[in-house]
Amino acid sequence: MPQYLPEPFRIKVVEPIRLIDRSAREAALRAAGYNLFALRAEDIFIDLLTDSGTGAMSQQQWAALMQGDESYAGARSYYRLKEAVEDIFGFRYFVPTHQGRAAENILSAALVQPGQFVPSNMHFDTTDANIRARGGRPVNLVIDEAFNPQSDHPFKGDLDVDRLKAFIEDTGPENIPFGMITVTNNAGGGQPVSMANLRAVSETYHAYGIPFFIDAARYAENCYFIQQREPGYADKSLLEIAREMFSLADGMTMSAKKDAIVNIGGLLCMNDEALFRRVSNELILREGFVSYGGLAGRDLDAMAVGLREGLDADYLAYRIAQTAYLAARLRENGIRLIEPPGGHAVYLDAGALLPHIPHREFPGQALAVELYREGGVRGVEIGSVMFSYEDPESGQMVYPQLELVRLAIPRRVYTQSHLDYVAEVAGRIAHRAEDIRGYRFTYAPKLLKHFTARFEPLG
Ligand code: F0G
Repeated sequence: MPQYLPEPFRIKVVEPIRLIDRSAREAALRAAGYNLFALRAEDIFIDLLTDSGTGAMSQQQWAALMQGDESYAGARSYYRLKEAVEDIFGFRYFVPTHQGRAAENILSAALVQPGQFVPSNMHFDTTDANIRARGGRPVNLVIDEAFNPQSDHPFKGDLDVDRLKAFIEDTGPENIPFGMITVTNNAGGGQPVSMANLRAVSETYHAYGIPFFIDAARYAENCYFIQQREPGYADKSLLEIAREMFSLADGMTMSAKKDAIVNIGGLLCMNDEALFRRVSNELILREGFVSYGGLAGRDLDAMAVGLREGLDADYLAYRIAQTAYLAARLRENGIRLIEPPGGHAVYLDAGALLPHIPHREFPGQALAVELYREGGVRGVEIGSVMFSYEDPESGQMVYPQLELVRLAIPRRVYTQSHLDYVAEVAGRIAHRAEDIRGYRFTYAPKLLKHFTARFEPLG
């Protein structure tokens, strides 16, 4: 069992949670059409739906809120954020945005032409959708190890550089307005990307004159993995590693709701002045003036403080150990996972636990529902509900390779005993796995089905 580090904080404000009884959970599931997105948060005991915007702010962040300068233009809060952004990321220009997808939207609006391609290791779904919304085509070129849940490759988020070169040669660099990489790779299990890979990807894009943007939502967790796992980085500080990482890129999009530990906020950074001008105009049209970008002044202050706290060595050691601890307890209780566990979440292998449920009956959904039914725990299905589609040519359903349930860990929110409880609940489910049945849709929209679909249990 990995060492579980005591939380490097103590609790000053508490938010009550309660476990409603089994019959009430059953009724809540029925009312929600067995879709966990449709549950009321007050009916959930441990909520691991996402680590996005769900973190606990520190006393320094709450104090910073009171310093918020709500001036429309040129607020002090903006300059405090600017100092943190320049110190950590080092790009020449930046704008705040209300969250990550707003930064993705503005970048795509400025750069993507219909028919163009944007490669990455794996795009997160909002990035994917924002590129598509401009007529572009996102391309995922992560290494093959990412799809093998038992491979213990230390950097399963790496992008396959040979495939990237071949892709650029085939497609033509003129058809690639920019290239990306996501750190850590959320869509592939929260797995880190090595500095060596970032460097090789940067050199490849730049050899063809393609600007390189990092999706930096979980960059601090990625920096921690580099420090722990990559030769030559053990003695470097996390700030030094971050600066080296971003010096390789021409810009970044960031959801600050993850590693900047705020409830709302995002960033779009770049070195190109002409791009910054276009971005500023688009931002003013859709988000707000360049010095607040759709946020309140106080949000900018909370972000400025959170950016530094997110890189704190003690915090990250505790954070990553917490994820490893939950993974170890789940493993002990007979649950197979994507190995090694990533930074912000563990991914349960529902396909391995429920081999009797075929893809079309949604084993991931069945496990996610069972976690709520058994113990009021909410995770999210990442499998056939989210990703299956009908092939337009053959009319056949296409299913993803893996049927997963993600348990994402909010930052500084749950304690070791909460995680013990989650592992126990999963263990009880593993004992009666063969009795669990699948689901079918009673309603499903064409796109982004998982948010609003409704289900009924089978047999
Ligand atoms: N990029 C990555 C890697 C993400 O994980 C997310 C959000 C975004 C961009 C979009 O940022 O939500 O601020 O607009 N991920 C959340 C999740 C929603 O649950 O994984 P946003």
